[in-house]
Amino acid sequence: MAQSTGFKKNKTAIFISGRGSNLKSLIKFSKTKNSPISIDLIISDNEKAKGLKYANMFKIKKRIFRFKDKVLAEKKILLEVKKYNINLICLAGFMKILSKKFIKNFKGKILNIHPSLLPKYKGLNTHRRAINNKENYSGCTVHLVNHKLDSGEIILQNKVKISKKDTPESLAKKILVQEHKIYPKAILKLFNL
Ligand code: GRF
Repeated sequence: MAQSTGFKKNKTAIFISGRGSNLKSLIKFSKTKNSPISIDLIISDNEKAKGLKYANMFKIKKRIFRFKDKVLAEKKILLEVKKYNINLICLAGFMKILSKKFIKNFKGKILNIHPSLLPKYKGLNTHRRAINNKENYSGCTVHLVNHKLDSGEIILQNKVKISKKDTPESLAKKILVQEHKIYPKAILKLFNL
């Protein structure tokens, strides 16, 4: 018999642009008994995003919005998010920057995962820059999204040691393992669990 979780799960939308490995780890997490979220919607700006396969696999609604006209795309996304009563958005490899207006209009929380120890290495090519700067550590960060790139309140971080042999690719792999661990943990923390 199915067990009641004892609380109502927060309806969540995941935004992706590519591979979707964080999406997959969040779907797995959402199905655990203690998860405070259910994943009800997957949004992508890229119809070719590999991660969209998880929508079919797990029978989750997916919607694709091209960002050629960003204002229009955001308007449509906002309607969709309201239609499904979403109260948490998780950006997971979503490569578009949401406008101040969108963030303000979404009366909920928006989280993002970034592959560096913020505030270091905001933006792209984080692994290459960390290695070039001879950092001993890099890592990943889950943070709230505000109108400045990769700058909102930090919820959780995990450190990863950079070895002398690391290439941007090997470092990305090591960090991704940690990403899959901290995103669920950060969500639990966000809901004080
Ligand atoms: C991750 O490294 C994430 O931190 C960054 O983009 C990558 C997305 O990977 N924002 P995936 O699509 O979740 O596999």
